[in-house]
Amino acid sequence: MDKDSFYSQDYITPAKATENIQYSIREVTVRARELEREGRDILYLNIGDPNVYDFDLVEEAQQAAIWAITHRKNGYAPSEGLPEALESIERDARNRQHIINIIGSFTGNGASECIDLAFTALVNPGDNVLLPSPTYPLYSMILTRLGVEARYYKLDETKEWQPDLDHMATLIDGRTRAIVVINPNNPTGAIYPETCLRRIIDLAKKNNLLILNDENYERLVLDPECHHISLASLDEDACVLTFNGLSKSYLGPGIRIGWGILSGPKARLDSYYETICRLLRARLCSSHPFQWTIRACLEGSQSHFPEFLAKLCRRRDICMQKIAQIPGLSCIIPHGSFYAFVRVEGIRDDKKWCRDLLDSKGVVVVPGSGFSYTCEDAAYFRIVFLPDEKTLSEAFERIAEFVKETS
Ligand SMILES: Cc1ncc(COP(=O)(O)O)c(C=O)c1O
Repeated sequence: MDKDSFYSQDYITPAKATENIQYSIREVTVRARELEREGRDILYLNIGDPNVYDFDLVEEAQQAAIWAITHRKNGYAPSEGLPEALESIERDARNRQHIINIIGSFTGNGASECIDLAFTALVNPGDNVLLPSPTYPLYSMILTRLGVEARYYKLDETKEWQPDLDHMATLIDGRTRAIVVINPNNPTGAIYPETCLRRIIDLAKKNNLLILNDENYERLVLDPECHHISLASLDEDACVLTFNGLSKSYLGPGIRIGWGILSGPKARLDSYYETICRLLRARLCSSHPFQWTIRACLEGSQSHFPEFLAKLCRRRDICMQKIAQIPGLSCIIPHGSFYAFVRVEGIRDDKKWCRDLLDSKGVVVVPGSGFSYTCEDAAYFRIVFLPDEKTLSEAFERIAEFVKETS
């Protein structure tokens, strides 16, 4: 290829594969910060970081991190992860989540790095991967970078955001490599029943697909009648890579600790697992001292959960009540996670709607299109219900005023 005609001679040309990469959850804050600098009072309902609100990393993890840093745990760790941490991850996966046929696990710089690595080890340009729509945007971004097509299967709002499995089946062809399942879901908060998970497994088995199974919110189940079933507990023949971590359940996204657990028939997964391990070695290791927090959390008291979940439940309920009182807005009740995906009837341009809301009322929400979801006759936006009750009430008063003034 002729270098001179491909690259600009005037500036350093960025990679083509990055052209469509955007991360709306953080991008909306750029405008919000501008307004804040002008002296405006901004309410942030966009970031899924408990530390931005009235939550902090669990006490046992704080102690473990301090201990590790002051006890010479600051060198490189083994690339897959600290043995103490991996044992703890696998024990918890087996005993609490009932994950069967575990082949191995690894830690990463957040679940994000594990997800990135899982795709890098799996796909070639021209392959395709099935993603939910709406989806957590990291997935689309990684696939774009790797030159792989994202094929979106519908999550059906009329069925409480459950996956449309018939639609999923029609998307599979000879170049499909994996199905991504996010359960509990970000951004909808839906939790999937066993029948649905079993049908996904059947599709994957029939077509020799890996299931990339994101369970980062599995401990955040808000209603006693719902319970989360780990997909990898259901079928010893399913090839599953389950992602989890300390960001959400243990309130520490900034310590960047996540992991992947590969499970299923060993002979079918050995070569893929070895590839993951090679990639892990090439990036040396994830944060050594912070890996000591894994055992501290998973084998700790778990005493933060009752209060954390009770707060989330109350805050979710406030949001649902407020939404129900605003004409044109509706929302399927999220049973898990700390997100709600809200429908705005009769609006087509979700980005403009969210931007106008921010400019006129100072409330930051993320447009639905940032989660690869658009719809003909309505716009969507995602909120987090981590803020305290007063902030949420204030935010929804402002949203109600905005809707009244603009309809
Ligand atoms: C569904 C989902 N997966 C993965 C992640 C990334 O988590 P981590 O902080 O462990 O990188 C997030 C973060 O919001 C998420 O919502």
